[in-house]
Amino acid sequence: MLRTWRRLRRRNATRNIPAFPFLLGFQMRTHYCGQLSEALVGKTVALCGWVNRRRDHGGVIFIDLRDREGLAQVVFDPDEPESFAIAEQVRSEYVLQVEGVVRLRPEGTRNDDLPTGQVEVAITSITVLNAAETPPFQLDDTDVHEDNRLRHRYIDLRRPVMQQRLRLRAQITRSIRTYMDSEGFIDIETPMLTRATPEGARDYMVPSRTYPGSFFALPQSPQIFKQLLMVSGFDRYYQIVRCFRDEDLRADRQPEFTQIDVETSFLDENGIMGLMETMIRQVFREVLDVALPDPFPRISYHEAMERYGSDRPDMRIALELTEVSDLVEDAEFKVFSAPAKDPKGRVAALRLPGGASLPRRVIDEYTRFVGIYGARGLAYIKVNDVAAGREGLQSPIVKFLSDEALEKIMARTGAADGDLVFFGADKARIVNDALGALRVRLGEDLELMEGEWQPIWVVDFPMFEWDEKENRWSALHHPFTAPDADGAEMLEADPGACLSRAYDMVLNGSEIGGGSIRIHRQELQKAVFRVLGIGDEEARHKFGFLLDALQYGCPPHGGLAFGLDRLAMLMSGANSIREVIAFPKTQTASCPLTEAPAPAEADQLVQLGLRLRPRVEKKSD
Ligand code: AMO
Ligand code: AMP
Repeated sequence: MLRTWRRLRRRNATRNIPAFPFLLGFQMRTHYCGQLSEALVGKTVALCGWVNRRRDHGGVIFIDLRDREGLAQVVFDPDEPESFAIAEQVRSEYVLQVEGVVRLRPEGTRNDDLPTGQVEVAITSITVLNAAETPPFQLDDTDVHEDNRLRHRYIDLRRPVMQQRLRLRAQITRSIRTYMDSEGFIDIETPMLTRATPEGARDYMVPSRTYPGSFFALPQSPQIFKQLLMVSGFDRYYQIVRCFRDEDLRADRQPEFTQIDVETSFLDENGIMGLMETMIRQVFREVLDVALPDPFPRISYHEAMERYGSDRPDMRIALELTEVSDLVEDAEFKVFSAPAKDPKGRVAALRLPGGASLPRRVIDEYTRFVGIYGARGLAYIKVNDVAAGREGLQSPIVKFLSDEALEKIMARTGAADGDLVFFGADKARIVNDALGALRVRLGEDLELMEGEWQPIWVVDFPMFEWDEKENRWSALHHPFTAPDADGAEMLEADPGACLSRAYDMVLNGSEIGGGSIRIHRQELQKAVFRVLGIGDEEARHKFGFLLDALQYGCPPHGGLAFGLDRLAMLMSGANSIREVIAFPKTQTASCPLTEAPAPAEADQLVQLGLRLRPRVEKKSD
C-alpha cells in the first residue's frame, strides 16, 4: 500500500497536481461516500471516489462523488480558491480524493431518496488521483447495447445495479460456504485440465505441448472426480467450481459457468434433497429475508410433462394442460385424430380463464409463437355459453368434433363461460414444448404469476431418451445416474421404461440444480454404458479409471450441482445470467473486452504440433 501510495504521489507531482496534505495512516479516506450521515455533522472526513456528476451553481460547484457504497455531495466554495480552481477542471469519472467538513444540507435542498441526502461535505482540499476520458456511455443510460457494455465492462460494472448484483452473488456464496461448512462438507478442488466428462455438451479442448496431438478437455462438470472422492472416503464434498460447455447459448447458459457442486456417501435421495433444500432455504433467508416453503413440493417428471408440458414447470402460473387424446381419436379432424392415435402423439388442451376476450390479433401472435416450437397450428375454442353446447362455442374446429367430444372436452378442462381453450396436436414432444411455452407466455403477458418464489423438486425421471438424430438411447441426466429398483431389472430389456434416481430443483420455471444417486457397482455401470451404445472396449478406453475405482470399495453415493449463475440471476431479479457474471461471454461465445477467442501465433501452433485446416465455408440450405 505504501509503495502504491508513493508512486501515486510521484505521478501526481509530475502532473502538477498537489500532493496530499496529510496521510491517514495508510488510508486515503476516512469513510466511504455512501457512509455519510447526520451523525457525522461537524466532523472532518476524507473521501475517495469517482465523479458521478458535477454541477456549477452560480459560483458554487457541487460534485456527486461515487464509490461502491453510494454517493456523497461535496461542495466547493470560491472562498477556497485553490480547491475551487481544481474542481472547475474535473470531469465525469475523474478519480478524486477530497477532504472537508460534513454539514447539514440547507433546508429545502435535502434529498430523502438518497441515504446520504441530508448532508454534504464543505471541501477544504481536493486531489485529482486520476483524470478520465469521456466514458463511452453514461452510467445512468439504461439503453446501452450489450456489446458496448461488455467491451467496456470495467465501466459498466461501476453502475450501482451491477455492483449490487455482484455483491449479492458474493453474499450467496458466503451463505452457502457457511452452510456447507456447518454440515461437515469439505471443499476440495478438482482439475481443470482433464478428460471429457459426458454432460451432453461439446468439450472445450486444450492441446498438450508435451504430448503433441493429444488434448485435455476442460471439465463440463467435476462429476467423475467427485465420485472418486467418495471412493476415497471424504464422505461429504463440495466445491464452487467453474464448468465449461460448448453448447448453444441462451439467456441462462454460458460457455463457462459456476456450479455449487456437492457429493455425499451413505445418503439416499431423500437425505440429499433434504440437505440441499435446507441450504437453499437458508440462503434465501439470509440474503433476501425470504421464507421458502418447507418442504419443497415434489412432482414426477411424468406428471410435470402431463400438466405443464415441461420438466421445469413454473409453479407461479395456475394454468394447466389437459389430456384430450382419448376424446378426439375418432374425430373426422385428422389434425387431432392422427396424433391422438399415434403412441408418440398427444392432443392436449390449455384452458385460459377469461380468455374469450383475447382479440384475434393476439391469438394470431400466439399461433406464430408456438410455431417456434414446431407446432403447425394453434386450434382454439371460445367458450361463450357452455350450457348451450355446440351453439355456445365459437371456433373454426367445432364443426369437426362430435357433440359428445365437445361436451367431454368442456367438462374435463373445466371450461366456463368467457374462457378460451387452446389445443395442441402433434408428436408429444412438440405439443409439450409448444403448449408448455405458451403457458409461460400467457402467465407473463396476462400477469398470472402467483406467489413470488415457487420452488419444486422434479423426480422420477426416465433413465434414457431416444435420440432420433443419432438413432440410439441417450442418458437423460448423465451415464452415472442409478436406475431405480425396477429400472435395474429391465435396464437392457426395456430402456425406455426405466426410471432413474435423479432429481432436479426448479425455481420459478428455471432449473437451478440437478443431481442423482449414482451407480456404485461396476456391472451395473457397464450395463448402462451398453444401453447407451458404449461397448466394453470404448467404456474401458474412456472411463476405465472410473470402472476400476468402482471395484476398490466404492460406497453408495449421490449428489447434486446447482447453477450459481442461475440462482444469482433469479435472486437479483436479472433477466440473464450475463448480468450476474463480472466478465461474461456474448451470445456467440466471445469476449468483446479481451477479444477472446483469438488466433494462435504461428510458433505456438508449431510448439503444439498443430496445423490449421483452411476454413471450409458451410453451404447454407
Ligand atoms: P447439470 O448438467 O444438470 O448437472 O448441471 C447442474 C446445473 O448447472 C447449471 N447449468 C448451467 N448454468 C449456466 N450455463 C450453462 N451452460 C449451464 N449448464 C448447466 C444448471 C444445472 O441445473 N454433474 C451433474 C450434477 C450432478 O449430477 O451432481 C451436472 O453437471 O442450473
Ligand atoms: P386447418 O384445418 O389447417 O385450417 O386448421 C384448423 C385449426 O386448427 C386452425 O386454428 C389451426 O391453427 C389449428 N391447427 C392446425 N394444426 C394444428 C396442430 N398440429 N395442433 C393444434 N392446432 C392445429
